[in-house]
Amino acid sequence: MEFTMFIFYSVLFCTSLVWASVIHDLNVDTEHGAGRGVAVPVRLADSPRDGEGRVELFHDGVWGTVCDVLFGVAEAKLVCEVLGYSYGGLLQPKMTYGFGRGPIMVDLDCPWDATNLGQCSQTGWSQNPPSVCNHDADVGVACRTSPSEDIPVRLIGGTGPHEGRVLVKHEGQWGTVCNQDWDPRDAAVICHQLGYSHGGEAMMWPARYNFGARPPGPIWLSNLSCGGKEPRLGECPSLVWGEDAHQCRSTFMDASVRCYTENIPDFQIRLVGGENNRTGRVNIFHEGRWWDVCDDWWGNDDASTVCRTLGYREGNATHVQHNTGRLDGFGWDMVYCPPGVTDFRHCFHRGWGRHTCYWYEVAGVVCE
Ligand SMILES: *[C@@H]1O[C@H](CO)[C@@H](O)[C@H](O)[C@H]1NC(C)=O
Ligand SMILES: *[C@@H]1O[C@H](CO)[C@@H](O)[C@H](O)[C@H]1NC(C)=O
Ligand SMILES: *[C@@H]1O[C@H](CO)[C@@H](O)[C@H](O)[C@H]1NC(C)=O
Repeated sequence: MEFTMFIFYSVLFCTSLVWASVIHDLNVDTEHGAGRGVAVPVRLADSPRDGEGRVELFHDGVWGTVCDVLFGVAEAKLVCEVLGYSYGGLLQPKMTYGFGRGPIMVDLDCPWDATNLGQCSQTGWSQNPPSVCNHDADVGVACRTSPSEDIPVRLIGGTGPHEGRVLVKHEGQWGTVCNQDWDPRDAAVICHQLGYSHGGEAMMWPARYNFGARPPGPIWLSNLSCGGKEPRLGECPSLVWGEDAHQCRSTFMDASVRCYTENIPDFQIRLVGGENNRTGRVNIFHEGRWWDVCDDWWGNDDASTVCRTLGYREGNATHVQHNTGRLDGFGWDMVYCPPGVTDFRHCFHRGWGRHTCYWYEVAGVVCE
């Protein structure tokens, strides 16, 4: 069954000249988007099942396909969302739905939080694409059509059910998750699904944590890419079950999680080095010392959580160039504070002291 839907987007969102030419090609539709909107039709072709198929976009009077070079789980999720499937997209291996026809969009690249295709960048349609982008590289997606496809999850090998190597159940069998694209947003969804609400850590390398040997079973999920707010793992986009498992042949690459079961006992937070007591570098105290926070992924939601923890209403993220004088100065990296969290210690990170930061990448805030 083919699924066709029109995606409306405002010319105001159009950031690239190429999309401007698409807009021109499709004729400006004055019925929509305050008289300035246009429609980019998208469909999923050549699948017997609802909500999956080869991704096709309408261009210049014909349907074209999309090359897999830059198309990843973020793009799969967006295509599913604009078609009305709101439970995450699974990126299929190439050729799942056969060869497409027509022009090929070579490099569709969408921001994680895009809500329409007009926010994606691309360099346009090609009748003569590079050889890596022939029709044998046409992308396909399988959208999840209901939230009921819930994925059972458990953590094994740790000191309790709150930590360990991540196992997910599919077709009656437990299997592991590959650490490709693994990050604290994925950990947040897993901890929340398991009922823990005191923050936690996304661990990349189980070998460092004594979580024991990998149990027998398939490597089920790769490139799991939760946004963090999904109520269940079953709504996070990823590659299809068992796909790309070879990337994770090494048992060192199993995704692992530690969910905190209670407040970090000795945790304190302060701002240092600012002009006043509402601004400065974020410092957190743990196990007898103060740590900086790395500014990878540091955003206003995280800054506001810091500010609320300190008794202010909200705040903005800043990036401070401060030389801690030591390479082990960072406590947290890739911080993710879920919406509604008002205590910074309930946010997620990569694990104490685990970071990939240079000395000048320090997280700061301005509170109000
Ligand atoms: C999966 O994740 C890896 C590591 O981040 C990345 O290099 C690769 O492009 C991703 N694959 C897809 C299909 O998104
Ligand atoms: C911040 O400084 C102001 C003015 O000096 C003072 O009134 C206030 O109590 C201080 N707030 C905190 C949280 O230290
Ligand atoms: C945060 O940023 C917004 C938008 O730039 C600005 O309006 C607001 O005043 C800022 N707040 C603080 C505390 O700097």
